[in-house]
Amino acid sequence: MENDIAIENLPTHVAIIMDGNGRWAKSRGEKRLLGHKAGALAVREITTYAREIGIKYLTLYAFSQQNFGRPADEVKGLMQLLVEYVKGEWNTIMDNGIRLTAIGDIEALPLVTRTALNSLIKASAKNSAMTLCLALAYGGREEITVAMQKLAKKVAAGELAPEKITKELISENLYTAAMPDPDLIIRTSGEMRISNFLLWQLAYSEFYITDTLWPDFHREEFLKALKAYAGRERRFGLTSAQISAENT
Ligand code: FPP
Repeated sequence: MENDIAIENLPTHVAIIMDGNGRWAKSRGEKRLLGHKAGALAVREITTYAREIGIKYLTLYAFSQQNFGRPADEVKGLMQLLVEYVKGEWNTIMDNGIRLTAIGDIEALPLVTRTALNSLIKASAKNSAMTLCLALAYGGREEITVAMQKLAKKVAAGELAPEKITKELISENLYTAAMPDPDLIIRTSGEMRISNFLLWQLAYSEFYITDTLWPDFHREEFLKALKAYAGRERRFGLTSAQISAENT
């Protein structure tokens, strides 16, 4: 498929709920972990493609807080897969000027995973072509709770007046402080739910849901999502006429 998408209509920030690895594996009579391994290949393909076409921020939901409750061998396998991912993708990330970041309760990850991740986060910190943000041990409610605790402590210490708590200040205290909110949120495998992902940040994001399972989500599918986004009118609570007037 040709990359004929108009650059001016590209979303700045795309977030993806990568779902369906387990079903992909099951349909082949394989173990769930094989689905995650295939999912890691899709991560590689979509990351390099996003960088190629000029997406500035790509956030991938790789492991939720709630995923710690999965069978121990699956959790262990995913944590190991992340270590292999960092080793295997190191050169691609550096050669493509990609900055790796992570959001979530990173301290809750096993030491070996955290160490590998932090080493590439540090090495790529000055890259600026695209930010790849992995959501790991992440939960939207947990993120908001932590931000509220930080602000409440400042109020209790007399350093912050309650009326100075604004939407902007809340955003600045989330894990995603340094990033714009996602313009487009994609979910694979047909599920119609938000699964505790970026609850604050997705307030005005455009949704794109596809039945395609994550390991089958290739660049053509991604381009389809970007084209659907390019055809949307974002209204941020205003009317269509108001938006048209603003653009003339
Ligand atoms: C959801 O599918 C997927 C996950 C919980 C893990 C996502 C992990 C990867 C895509 C691979 C590793 C990540 C990186 C960044 C290298 P599911 O297991 O819930 O699928 P199911 O709903 O079909 O069971």
